[in-house]
Amino acid sequence: MAYTVPKLTDYSTAALDRATRDLLSALEEESAAVRTEPEYEALRIRWRARKDGIVTQVNDLWLKTAPRQAKRNVGQKVNEVILSRVDAVLQERHDHVKNLGILEKARAAGLDAELDAARCAVELAESIDITLPGVRRPIGAEHPIIRTSNEIVSVFQKLGYSVADGPIVETDYYNFEALNFPPNHPARDTQDTLFIANQQSKPQRERLLLRTHTSPVQIRTMEKMRPPIRIVIPGQVHRNDPPDASHSPMFHQIEGLAVDTNITFGDLKGTLDHAMKELFGSSVKTSFRPSFFPFTEPSAELYVTCFVCGGSGKRGTEPCRPCKQTGWMEVLGCGMVDPNVFEFVKDNGYDPKKVSGFAFGMGVDRLALLKYGVDDLQLFFQGDVRFLQQFS
Ligand code: DAH
Repeated sequence: MAYTVPKLTDYSTAALDRATRDLLSALEEESAAVRTEPEYEALRIRWRARKDGIVTQVNDLWLKTAPRQAKRNVGQKVNEVILSRVDAVLQERHDHVKNLGILEKARAAGLDAELDAARCAVELAESIDITLPGVRRPIGAEHPIIRTSNEIVSVFQKLGYSVADGPIVETDYYNFEALNFPPNHPARDTQDTLFIANQQSKPQRERLLLRTHTSPVQIRTMEKMRPPIRIVIPGQVHRNDPPDASHSPMFHQIEGLAVDTNITFGDLKGTLDHAMKELFGSSVKTSFRPSFFPFTEPSAELYVTCFVCGGSGKRGTEPCRPCKQTGWMEVLGCGMVDPNVFEFVKDNGYDPKKVSGFAFGMGVDRLALLKYGVDDLQLFFQGDVRFLQQFS
């Protein structure tokens, strides 16, 4: 039977307590049954409607009619206990109903993360139901680009290379000048640079920019460490390229540098050939083709046999798109460190007459795209959990 507010005839404290207890237990019972917004609305109106809601009735039937000497006592009960308790229970229940709504929506949309959050809130609000499945807390996973980068780095770590890093906001000096790109040299134009604003009053070499490659860390490391060195440098770089399926203004590179006495082009070839076999499988072949970079001389581009079609240029009867049917894919730039570069760090033991070295640099993002068969680079950077979850 639905609760109705009784008339009070006995205004003793004991009678008042009993009436209050009955009222509150009716409230608890009714509120526990509410699960939807319309049900909640009905509950709120029943208890809190100004005209004829239960709280109003209590005022009318208990407080207004109370004899003068009992008024204070009854007033206190009505305000402090009933009013505040009714409002608190209603508020709590409304929050709970909202969470149930989110849970329902998330379930309908198949959104796991939201589902877990809502389920968590609902579970907290309800007494423990041991038949419910446990709350799954999704744990993070390595981003596919970082994973690819780590895999490449670890190939070189096994060869005794250490890992170095440097700033993403870099000076013109490290990004260009000390890498043998003189001011106004056309090779600068191959790396469409994002400059930091309001630097014109500084000398050119001190002006700040977003590094366009990881190569400046070669110089920074040689300034700090004397030869021999063997380092790899993973990191973010930026160029003024509009985002599309294969370009992004922010992307990732891994740089390598080995300097010692008597390092030859043979060492470069052997090292990179080994690394490619580790990364892509022992059957890949490598091909070094002449190229130009200001900081290496001679310079080369390294191609590997396409790891999608195995070098045939075809996938079944279809043309292989990743290698444009050539059977070869370009993976990195490399070369012997130009003596002009050593001149900038000569004082730290890099006398170009005594030491020689090789360097290489590769783009990680494109390798990750090919490795995971993803057709749009932007997917890596949009932070959509449904995409990223596939790699966890
Ligand atoms: N920094 C070059 C780029 O971003 C890549 C590169 C080429 C790095 C040759 C090297 C190298 O260390 O030797 O285009």
